[in-house]
Amino acid sequence: MSYDVNNYSMDQALADDRNHVWHHLTQHKPLEDNDPLMIVEGKGMRVLDAKGKEYLDAVSGAVWTVNVGYGRESIANAVRDQLVKMNYFANSAGSLPGAMFAQQLIDKMPGMSRVYYSNSGSEANEKAYKIVRQIAYKKFGGKKHKILYRDRDYHGTTITALSSTGQLQRKDQYGPFTPGFVEFPHCSAYHSPNGGDADFGIQAARLMEDAILREGADTVGAVVIEPITAGGGVIVPPAGYMKEVRRICDKYNVLLHIDEVVCGLGRTGKWFGYQHFDIIPDIVTMAKGVASGYAAISCTVTTEAVFDAFKDDPSDTMSYFRDISTFGGCTAGPAAALENMRIIEDENLLENVQKMGAYLNERLHGLAEKYQVIGDIRGEGLFQGIELVVDRETREPVHESVAAGVAADCMANGVIIGRTNRSFELHNNTLCLSPALIVGKSEIDEIVDAIDNALGRIA
Ligand SMILES: Cc1ncc(COP(=O)(O)O)c(C=O)c1O
Repeated sequence: MSYDVNNYSMDQALADDRNHVWHHLTQHKPLEDNDPLMIVEGKGMRVLDAKGKEYLDAVSGAVWTVNVGYGRESIANAVRDQLVKMNYFANSAGSLPGAMFAQQLIDKMPGMSRVYYSNSGSEANEKAYKIVRQIAYKKFGGKKHKILYRDRDYHGTTITALSSTGQLQRKDQYGPFTPGFVEFPHCSAYHSPNGGDADFGIQAARLMEDAILREGADTVGAVVIEPITAGGGVIVPPAGYMKEVRRICDKYNVLLHIDEVVCGLGRTGKWFGYQHFDIIPDIVTMAKGVASGYAAISCTVTTEAVFDAFKDDPSDTMSYFRDISTFGGCTAGPAAALENMRIIEDENLLENVQKMGAYLNERLHGLAEKYQVIGDIRGEGLFQGIELVVDRETREPVHESVAAGVAADCMANGVIIGRTNRSFELHNNTLCLSPALIVGKSEIDEIVDAIDNALGRIA
């Protein structure tokens, strides 16, 4: 028995994993006879598995997280230095990296003001919901407590985050859900009969207004949306949509909460996805790319107006935000996030995302000319989706085994791509690409060529 992971045989590691680890999103029955994938090393955009096979990772750690790439010694050093100085104290006290990262983050988010730290995207969203609920009690006698969410959007894995998630298959078997969450329709032009209308963005936003009116505006406290729907099929909002959503929220005194867990920190070529649409939200949540997976950190960021609702008479013992996050006090998170942000700035990665995103999109459109099975290419920056259909006219989705087959073929040939998975029963048909923000042309060629070859064999 050893505690030294550097002296651990790969065979033993695989055996221990098979015997004792429960993996996320995984049916373990096949692992009775097969080894699990175990990734043991990474550098830049490439990773190595326990059997020595190398892969080009086109999805930043499978779930769009490792924005600055693998093997960043400067982040590891920043975290190490911080940990030996001061690793943890509860977040009711401040920390040096916590203060500095909050200032740097707010600097990139004009109109926003306060940062609340926790550890995962789901948790950051839960904090936002609690903020909305408490404001409802403080200002509106508890009435304005409902939170609207959109069909196809995902906001996390906890029961309440799932309650605000518009993905039926992801939610199936986990109910009953938290009351007070209400769904409204998505804004996907490709999946809407009137998606070709010039004012489709306005029409789609008005569906949110319909939901507010149906519920009663005096009962709705907030709307939560992804700036670009990620796991729900890479859906970029149509022109005019976000501004109209903002206008409607203002009209009915509804807070606008943007979930930047995927798009935040540069993925789309701006610091945040919502910044493509010339709006200022009331609440923004973020996680994955905040520290590129070098430490667990998430942030719930609010305007000063939202924060002000909790500044009150200190003798009222129930008036402050009575939330607690034990690991929100871990200093490794903001220490890693600071260095992660410095890298994005110093290496001009936002510019690289814009250039390489355009190149990736162009190459994917080239593939669409070759393969009828490609129904739509969608995305912004280095977040791109390829929807596979049986027929371009009817837009009938392919069976999920086709998308799974393409991803498996790429994997067998050393390129890891993603796909929508267990989101909607009939729509697990979109391939997803989200390479690290450092990606270059040759790596994009390698990724697209792998998909080209896979489609040639399978579709
Ligand atoms: C848009 C969005 N929000 C929230 C989450 C939940 O984040 P976490 O898995 O860190 O709880 C995810 C995870 O994929 C996500 O895609």
